[in-house]
Amino acid sequence: MTDNEAGKLDFGDQSSLDASLSIAARALQESGILRVTRQVRAMLARGEKIVNLTVGDFDPRYFRIPKKLAEEIQAAIGRGETNYPTPEGMLPLRQAISDYVYRTAGVRYPVDAIVVCSGGRPVLYGAYRAVVNPGDKVLYSVPSWMNDSYSLLTGGESIEIEATSETGFQPTLEQLAPHLSEAAMLCLCSPGNPTGTVMTAEHLTRILEAVVVENRKRESAGRRPLFVLHDQMYGALVSEGQKHTYPAAVVPESARYVISADGLSKAYAGTGLRVGWMLVAPAIGARIRDILSHAGAWAPRAEQLGAANFLNDAKAIADFRVEMSARLAERFDAMYDGFQKLAADGYPVDSINPQGAIYFSARFVLHGCEYEGKLIETDTDIRLLLLEQAGIAVVPFQAFGVKGDTGWFRLSAGAVSLDEIRDMFPRIRSLLDRVD
Ligand SMILES: Cc1ncc(COP(=O)(O)O)c(C=O)c1O
Repeated sequence: MTDNEAGKLDFGDQSSLDASLSIAARALQESGILRVTRQVRAMLARGEKIVNLTVGDFDPRYFRIPKKLAEEIQAAIGRGETNYPTPEGMLPLRQAISDYVYRTAGVRYPVDAIVVCSGGRPVLYGAYRAVVNPGDKVLYSVPSWMNDSYSLLTGGESIEIEATSETGFQPTLEQLAPHLSEAAMLCLCSPGNPTGTVMTAEHLTRILEAVVVENRKRESAGRRPLFVLHDQMYGALVSEGQKHTYPAAVVPESARYVISADGLSKAYAGTGLRVGWMLVAPAIGARIRDILSHAGAWAPRAEQLGAANFLNDAKAIADFRVEMSARLAERFDAMYDGFQKLAADGYPVDSINPQGAIYFSARFVLHGCEYEGKLIETDTDIRLLLLEQAGIAVVPFQAFGVKGDTGWFRLSAGAVSLDEIRDMFPRIRSLLDRVD
C-alpha cells in the first residue's frame, strides 16, 4: 500500500515548491506583528500568565459588537439572505452608509461613490492594485500599518517618511512635500495604527490642499493624478477632545483623488464580521469593485443587510459609542497614568496621551543598560525582557516599518481588562529596578 492509499498525502519538498512560486508571493515576508503574536500565543497556550497587549483586536469579554447589529444579522440569515451579494455591495447598505457619513461628517457621498467589501484590507489592497503600476512610487510614513506589504505586492517603490513623536507620529506636509511630485499614491491613516494618534483637521487640510495643487499641475501637464489612500478604519474611535476629519469635509476638491477605507471592524468591534467600505470617486470604485470581485472579497449578504439596519439607527450607534468609548478611555487612562507615574519617578519611559484607535504608544529607553549583566541593545531585547521578565507582551514600532531602535512600542487596549493593566505597572517598576 502506498502512502497515498493509507490516506497520507506526500506534498514533496516544501522548500523547493516554495522556491518555484512567483516573485511577489515569495517577496512577502511574515508580518512583524504576526511573528510577535505567534510567540505570545504559544506562551499563553503553555499556560503562562501574560498581559497580552499585542492584539489589534477585541476580546468579546470586554468589547462586543452592538446588540442591534447582532440581532439584525441573525434576522437576515433567518430570512434566507445567504446568496451572493451584489459586487459593489447591497444597495440598502450603501444607502445607509451614505446617510451615516452625512450624519457624521456633513458630506453627502452618493451610493455610486460607495463600494462595500469584506473589511478594510480589501479596500487597501484594491486601491493599491487600481492605482499602482510596477515601479510607481508610493509615499507613506512609518510607523504605519501594512503599507510596506501592499506596496511590495503591487510592485510599488516605497518612499517611507520617518514620522516622529513630536508630531504624534503623523507625517507633516514639510516631510511629504518634496515627494509629492513623484508619487503615484500617498497613504494616510488617522487615527493611526500603531500609534493611536490623530491627524488634526488643520494638518490634513494642508496636506490635501497640497495634493490638489499638485494635481492641477499634473492635469495641465497631462500626467496621472496623485491619489490618496485614506485609512479611517479607526475614525469612529477618537478620545474625548479629539476629532476625526473626513477629507472631503475639509477639502471637497480632494474627493476625486481620495480613496477612504472604513468599516465595522474597529468602529463596532466586529473584526470577524468582515464588512468594510470605501468612499471613492465612482470610476475608481468601479475598477476596485471589479478587482475585488475576482477574489470574491465581498462582505456576506446577511451581514450587509444587518449592518444597513444598524447604521440607520442613530440612537443604537450613539448608545454603543458611549459604552465603547468609556471602556477604551478607562484602559487608556490607566495606561497613561501608569506611565506618567513611572516617568515622574525618574524611570526611563515616555508615552503619548492617547488620542484614538485602540492603541497606546509607550517608550522604554533602556538601550545601553544591562539586565543581569547582559547588555540591552535593541528594541527586540526590550520586548523580550518585558515579555519574559514581566509577563507583558507588546509590539515594537519596528514591526510597522520603523528601521532604528527607537524604544517605542504599541500597546493595544482591545483585549485586556482594566485590572490586567493596573496590575502590570508594579511588574514594570520592579523590572526597571533590576535594569542598570
Ligand atoms: C489601520 C488599519 N487599516 C485597516 C485594517 C484592516 O481592517 P480589516 O480587519 O477590516 O481588514 C486594520 C486592521 O488592523 C488597521 O489597523
